[in-house]
Amino acid sequence: MKRLISLCAMFAMFALMYAQNIRNFTPGQIWKDTKGVHINAHGGGMLLHKNTYYWFGEHKVEGGIGNTAQVGVHCYSSKDLYNWVDEGIALQVSDDSISDIQRGCILERPKVIYNSRTKKFVMWFHLELKGKGYTSARAGIAVADKVTGPYTFVCSTRATPGSYPVNVKELSTDTKKLFVRDLNGGQMVRDQQLFVDDDGKAYHIFASEDNSTLHIAELTDTYLGYTGKYVRVFENRYMEAPAIFKKDGLYYFVGSGCTGWAPNAARSAAAPSIWGPWVELGNPCVGEGADKTFQSQSTYILPVQGMKNAFIYMGDRWTPSNPIDGRYVWLPIQFEENKFEIEWQDEWNLDFFRR
Ligand code: DGJ
Repeated sequence: MKRLISLCAMFAMFALMYAQNIRNFTPGQIWKDTKGVHINAHGGGMLLHKNTYYWFGEHKVEGGIGNTAQVGVHCYSSKDLYNWVDEGIALQVSDDSISDIQRGCILERPKVIYNSRTKKFVMWFHLELKGKGYTSARAGIAVADKVTGPYTFVCSTRATPGSYPVNVKELSTDTKKLFVRDLNGGQMVRDQQLFVDDDGKAYHIFASEDNSTLHIAELTDTYLGYTGKYVRVFENRYMEAPAIFKKDGLYYFVGSGCTGWAPNAARSAAAPSIWGPWVELGNPCVGEGADKTFQSQSTYILPVQGMKNAFIYMGDRWTPSNPIDGRYVWLPIQFEENKFEIEWQDEWNLDFFRR
């Protein structure tokens, strides 16, 4: 009898494990972690470290207050990209009223990269100081010795204070005003992204100048600050949600227009060098729902380890009235010569890239 009971228990355990084993991406549906809780990592980014993927994103809470940072940056890990283990809060907001990351600040789009020289994990995020709406427009920086944290807040800053862009000759009379306004204090940082090139150099890509123009700025060797070298790109094109990836020596860009939390048509571009020239390629989305990026906004483009030409578009389907309910839209990127396309899939898996 005892044996029968333990056999039944074992069977039940295997059945549960099997049931929880996710084998497909289902864009826009509730995506549960291995404990059965909806993944809470919005505006996220990915770090592949020692054959494990780490997903960092904004931890949201229920209700309107969830559009401000009440908890911090959440981290999950996965070996297969379908099943995610909750690794807890990597960076906690602070209860100290003099901290830049005081609870109630706005902390968006965290991204983490690893610095092999310093052996530190470095997180950058868009930071708005508590109670100041979106006027602070700063970059926040935190570091950790362990990938999952805890991350220690280092500082917040405006970008590249006092520096002129490499493409200074292209400054138009109009944008000169905004650009010059922030020249000494530092340029605005809103939606943001990090990109590490093959040579280990890291770049910060962010919406600046009241969201009108993006900047791509080189980071120092420690990844903790700016070298002062940068370019202004897509002048006056009002782009947000930037993500950059590289394939066969070409640099690709995905972003969105500027319509708050509401989805709009995605943008794309390509360049032979991170410094440009960046040539716009139009909306990469095709088919029904393409005009609103399938109700999502880009947050990261993920190269899949061990697969050739396999890149995943990671987007957010925001729900600002109840931010914790935000969904994730992950879709495969398909290349067409030197362009790429994103097409809706109800359900898909990595076999898509083997076709
Ligand atoms: C759109 C941005 O992409 C988000 O990260 C967030 O800043 C919202 N705007 C705020 O309205």
